[in-house]
Amino acid sequence: MTGTLITNIGELVTNDPAADDLLGLRTDAALVMADGVVAWVGDAADAPEADRVVDAGGRAVLPGFVDSHSHLVFAGDRAAEFGARMAGQSYAAGGIRTTVAATRAATDAELADQVARLVGEMRGQGTTTVEIKSGYGLTVEDEARSLRVARRFTDDTTFLGAHVVPPEYDDDPAGYVALVTGPMLAAAAPHARWIDAFCETGAFDDDQARAVLSAGAEAGLPGRLHANQLGPGPGVRLAAELGLVAVDHCTYLSDDDVHALRDARTVATLLPGVEFSTRQPYPDARRLLDAGVRVALASDCNPGSSYTSSIPFCIALAVREMGMTPAEAVHAATAGGAAALARTDVGALVPGRRADVVLLDAPSHVHLAYRPGVPIVARVWTGGVDRT
Ligand code: NIG
Ligand code: FE
Repeated sequence: MTGTLITNIGELVTNDPAADDLLGLRTDAALVMADGVVAWVGDAADAPEADRVVDAGGRAVLPGFVDSHSHLVFAGDRAAEFGARMAGQSYAAGGIRTTVAATRAATDAELADQVARLVGEMRGQGTTTVEIKSGYGLTVEDEARSLRVARRFTDDTTFLGAHVVPPEYDDDPAGYVALVTGPMLAAAAPHARWIDAFCETGAFDDDQARAVLSAGAEAGLPGRLHANQLGPGPGVRLAAELGLVAVDHCTYLSDDDVHALRDARTVATLLPGVEFSTRQPYPDARRLLDAGVRVALASDCNPGSSYTSSIPFCIALAVREMGMTPAEAVHAATAGGAAALARTDVGALVPGRRADVVLLDAPSHVHLAYRPGVPIVARVWTGGVDRT
């Protein structure tokens, strides 16, 4: 067979939806990657010959992580704000404006270098698909260029002009929503796959978020939403009512919110890096899973509320703090992320899926949570190409 055979896999996470267990685990397994996709999966003893052979040495192999929520296009950092928070200050949406000022002042090349650096960090930690939002430009040109930069790194770009109201519109928030839904959307749409809004006290209310999402839908951009991050609110119910693919944060939920998510099949994307970095209570993943809600885990990598690019770190937090088993957390960071991006080509290692593959320096997926903070990713392939 042409392609690359990975053999002697101690534990293979397939996420095969036809399997009896959540992760579709196989032991003593092998996998062939050819023409960019998974071509064969089976017992190591039955593995076909291939041009190239990688001996996994009994270690674990899993699908590359699908990080369905990040804000990588920004300049500067907010370490001082983080330090102040750890000394007792609370997180507020207004900090976003600090990054907006720095981002507007940056060149395209500086922004692209920053995205490249963070995508590289992500890849080294096993992320093979990443969604990237705009949202730190907040002018027509700065949002469009943020998306143009993001597009160089991913097809999953998201227009987040409705992140906060920028200072120049302090006295005219309605005018800013009109800008977002009019000229800014027109400039952003050619470079975006999705549209998003931050539906939260201090950002946009549900009527404003609804206006943004419906303008996006008319421009051909399906919606996603930031909601119920800082307190209870209408965002999650709005996402369910609109049948959005995903609603993200979901930290403060009523029983009605949980039932609405379950009934709408909207993926709840949980972002534990945020609660780590803001010292807020973690979302209750156990409650969502027990209610039958689909859950994804993502980094929310951004300079304000979650400056981590590490999905293994998020998995460890989800297991320790959110009531998830290691298997549930790994599933949420792979198949869950793919569902949150409506991607059927990634998130599983079954024939026909993209050969986005991670070899761990550990014998099982459990070690992702069991050995937090260690360099646990040994090798990464995207589309069958070794990126290590
Ligand atoms: O997802 N919630 C809104 N936006 C980001 C935070 C951005 C920031 O603080 O710069 C988030 O947490
Ligand atoms: Fe976010």
